[in-house]
Amino acid sequence: MMKATAEAGSNIAFIKYWGVHPRGGEAQREPNPLNPSISMTLDGARTTTTAAFLEDQSEDSCLLNDRPAPQEALHRVRTVLDEVRARSGTRFFARVESVNGFPTSAGIASSASGFAALALAAARAAGLACEPRSLVSLALLGSGSACRSLYGGFVIWSPHAAGHAEDSVRQMAPASHWPLTDMVAVVSRSKKEVSSDRGHRTAATSPLLEGRVRNVVRRVPEVEQAIRDRDLAALGEAMEADALGMHAVIMTARPSVIYWEPATISVVKRVRALREREGLDCYFTIDAGPNVHVIAPQEQAEPVTRALEEIPGVLEVLRCRCGRGPRLTDTHLF
Ligand code: DP6
Repeated sequence: MMKATAEAGSNIAFIKYWGVHPRGGEAQREPNPLNPSISMTLDGARTTTTAAFLEDQSEDSCLLNDRPAPQEALHRVRTVLDEVRARSGTRFFARVESVNGFPTSAGIASSASGFAALALAAARAAGLACEPRSLVSLALLGSGSACRSLYGGFVIWSPHAAGHAEDSVRQMAPASHWPLTDMVAVVSRSKKEVSSDRGHRTAATSPLLEGRVRNVVRRVPEVEQAIRDRDLAALGEAMEADALGMHAVIMTARPSVIYWEPATISVVKRVRALREREGLDCYFTIDAGPNVHVIAPQEQAEPVTRALEEIPGVLEVLRCRCGRGPRLTDTHLF
C-alpha cells in the first residue's frame, strides 16, 4: 500500500527568511534564500497529512481542512509530488488530505507545517528515504520556511550552492534545550494582503534590503550564541531588530506593503512596557502579517498571556511551545 501519514509542527523565525536569489535554471529549482534564517519549531501548531499514490487516480488531488485546496496551493503540492515521482519511479497520481490542528487564518504559517508533513508522508508512501536531510528539497519545493520544520527545536537554514539544498538546514539544539513559549496575539483573522512568495521576489526593489542582509549576517552568530547560552535578552534584542528590519524592507519595496494593523503597534508597545516596567522577559516578532508573536520563558507564559489578552484589538492569544520534528503515524485521514 503506497500510503503514509505524517505530522509536523509549524515554526517561528527569530531571524527571518525574506528574499530569494533568482532561480538558477533546472539545477536549482528550490528557493535559495538571500540570508540565513533561524527558527523554533512549534508543537501546538501542527498539520497532519496523508498521501497515497493510487493506480486509479486520474490526477493529483488535495483536500485542505476538508475543502479542495486553492489553485496556488495545489500547484505547489503537485510540484512536490512530481519530484517524488521522479525520484521513486512511480507513475501513479496521488490523493492528499491535510488538516491543521490550529486555525489557518490565525497567522501561524500553515505552509511550513503543511509542506514538512507532505514531504515526509509522500516520501514514505513512495518508499523513499525519510530522514530530514533527504526531505529538504521536497519541502523547499512547497515552501521555504517548511524546510526548517523538518527538525524539532532550534533550526538554521542557510543559503546553499546549486544542487546542495540538503546541506542547507541544520538543527542547532533540540526542543528540550530551552523550553520557550510563543504566544500569538491575534489581531486579525483575515487572509494576508500579499503572499510571502511575492514578497520574496520583490524584496530587492527595497533600497533597504542590502543593509538588512548585512545586519542579518552579523546577527546570526549572536543569535546562535544566545541560543547556546539560553540568553533571552540577547536573543530578544536581535529578534525584535530583525522583525522590524524585515518590515522596513517590506514597507519600502515596490509595491509597498504595510502588514501592520493599529493593534499590532499596541501589542509591540505593550511588550516593551511589560519588559521595562513590569519585569517580564518577553520579546516580539512579526511575520508577514499583522499578528504579533511574543516569546517568553515557559514559566512566564501565564502572566504574559493575561497581559496580552487585555490589549484592546487583541482577539485571542494562542500558545505554542517549542516542539519536536515531524513523525509518521498510523492514524490515516482516509
Ligand atoms: C515572514 O516560506 O512562507 O514567515 O516559500 O512563499 O511559502 P513561501 O514563503 P515562506 O516565507 C516565510 C516568511 C516569513 C519569515 C520566515 O518564516 O522566515
